[in-house]
Amino acid sequence: MARIESRFAGVGAYLPANAVTNADLALRVDTNDQWIRSRTGIGQRHIAADHEATSDIAAAAAERALAAAGVAASEIEAIIVATVTPDRTFPSTAVHVQAKIGAPPGVAFDVSAACAGFIYALNAADALIAGGRMSRVLVIGAEKLSCFLDWEDRATCVLFGDGGGAVLLEAARVEDDAPRKGVLGVHASADGRQTELLFSDGGPSTTNTVGQVRMNGREVFRHAVEEISNAVVTVAKNSDVRIDDIDWFVPHQANLRIIEACAKRLSLDMSKVIVTIDRHANTSSASIPLALDDALQSGRLGGGDLVAFAALGGGLAWGSALVRL
Ligand code: UT7
Repeated sequence: MARIESRFAGVGAYLPANAVTNADLALRVDTNDQWIRSRTGIGQRHIAADHEATSDIAAAAAERALAAAGVAASEIEAIIVATVTPDRTFPSTAVHVQAKIGAPPGVAFDVSAACAGFIYALNAADALIAGGRMSRVLVIGAEKLSCFLDWEDRATCVLFGDGGGAVLLEAARVEDDAPRKGVLGVHASADGRQTELLFSDGGPSTTNTVGQVRMNGREVFRHAVEEISNAVVTVAKNSDVRIDDIDWFVPHQANLRIIEACAKRLSLDMSKVIVTIDRHANTSSASIPLALDDALQSGRLGGGDLVAFAALGGGLAWGSALVRL
């Protein structure tokens, strides 16, 4: 008997050119480098130019993922973009990306699951592939969060940045007894009773604006540590993998202290954890593919590695995935 696996065929990322340091921000709001670094681990964030839309960021990341895979845009069957900062309320950012990279007509849609968006998009793409419906799906996390921040609110504006990351998922038909590769499992969940902990205070059907980011940082922190580490345990259990066997943990990059607390709960040494928050800040749905690309480019991660991903954000929504590269 044969089964279908969804494999990571190529990864790519894009960061806007403008890197804004904590010291730069301190000229604008009442904050300082020492507070931001010690409370979050953030040293700088990239901020998109006015003319750069989320679909430009997503398309640049997608083109790099396609180049890494050696696959032409004409071979893409579906594009899923995880974002909370779409170009427009509709149509989806995914259709803009489709047009920009020159992909043919096919399935294209956005996923809104805030910082867990990449995991949710991966879940959907994996289902399309494992179900035999598609053989090449682009999964993208891309955000222009800078357009969405209250630059007067020092408790939130220092935390976020812009950027995008993309993964090309490809179907591989293998014998049932072949060693498992690609996506081994995905776990995703949300708790709508916690909507007031992290949200945008606007939207087209309520305020007719996009609103701005609002957060109860301490409560989100507490949930993040608990749900992210639990989600890794769950996906490992469901995939029949021991936590000890995980080579690399690529968590959502919201706060270095959250990442360290999760690693501790999972008994994972920090040497196995990919951290890019110092350079990227929190880029919501883009943070995991950005960190993955960074680790691949630097040669830390490579083919055959077992990688765990996990995130939590507004919703609250969270999730995890296990992938054999
Ligand atoms: O990606 C989605 C998931 N998001 C997260 O996971 C974020 C989770 N939360 C966090 O990362 C942390 O809660 C924050 C980094 C947001 C805040 O850190 P904290 O240690 O929880 O600080 P706090 O909010 O309790 O604030 C402590 C103090 C306050 O001053 P007082 O009341 O103690 O005098 C704040 O006013 O720090 C002050 N403060 C700042 N000071 C300088 C808050 N923001 C700043 C700032 N610069 N930017």
